[in-house]
Amino acid sequence: MMKPRVLVTRRWPDAVEREMAKVFDIDLNPSDIPLSEATLRDAMGQYDAILPTVTDRLPAAVFQGPARTRILANYGVGFAHIDTEAAKASGIAVTNTPDVLSDCTADIAMTLMLMVARRAGEGERELRNGRWTGWRPTHMIGTKVSGATLGLIGFGRIGQAMAKRAHFGFGMKILVQNRSAVPAEVLARYNAVQVPTIEDLLPQCDFVSLHCPGGAANRHLINGPRLDLMRRGAFLINTARGEVVDEHALAQALWFGAIGGAGLDVYDREPAIPRELLGADNLVLLPHLGSATIETREAMGFRVLDNLTDFFAGKQPRDLVA
Ligand code: DGY
Repeated sequence: MMKPRVLVTRRWPDAVEREMAKVFDIDLNPSDIPLSEATLRDAMGQYDAILPTVTDRLPAAVFQGPARTRILANYGVGFAHIDTEAAKASGIAVTNTPDVLSDCTADIAMTLMLMVARRAGEGERELRNGRWTGWRPTHMIGTKVSGATLGLIGFGRIGQAMAKRAHFGFGMKILVQNRSAVPAEVLARYNAVQVPTIEDLLPQCDFVSLHCPGGAANRHLINGPRLDLMRRGAFLINTARGEVVDEHALAQALWFGAIGGAGLDVYDREPAIPRELLGADNLVLLPHLGSATIETREAMGFRVLDNLTDFFAGKQPRDLVA
């Protein structure tokens, strides 16, 4: 029997690429250069499955050519880069890779929170630039994280992994804003309280961490008026998607001291970062590292492999999203 033809759009961990090659007729991308929309449109006519990731844009136009592709098995939990309505209309299944990256993404959110509150980026820059003059009682005073109030916008798997760390590790008080009602037993695990709206949440928090999906529905969810609702010394953390935050409004809030600082792992037009953000000292910037551990990146790849194997065996893949 002919093996399904599969296109892997970026380099993946070796162990997964090797395993994938045993099961499918795969084409890899050894140059690791992101594919253009035109290349992806052509690929739709040549492959049974395409394995895209967050750097591949698949708008409706990509689905308009001749289609051989029957499944887009996305490498990553977020899939706002795929027009799932267009995929559905073309009879193409879409899967993602939830669960396996929740811990590492929450670890990065925690890293950003600690770094910005304790001024770790600023401190390291000072030291490496030879500007450190030694210990003194008033040097680089930060903000205490332990015992502070953390607001979580979005309370899915990653939001809950963050709550676990903050509640059990740092004794933080947890407030939650989520589209749907969170079951009482889930909130009780972290002694968390759900509030009805983002407007209710923001003024009560020392830290706000975003864990909602990206995409058009949540574009600029955190905008100027909402940043104004945050406490003056509060910190914003984004490990969700860049488009969730209005970067211009955030830069203004940082430069004018409307909030204490921010920590970002994701950006609206990755890998471009607005100059006004790059210059802000009270901002910690990471290059989309949320899931970047070998354990997680391999687990994501093997999860894609499971989804594909099920799909081509005629079973419903576990992580079907459209
Ligand atoms: C995800 O899984 O969504 C990560 O951000 C990588 O795309």
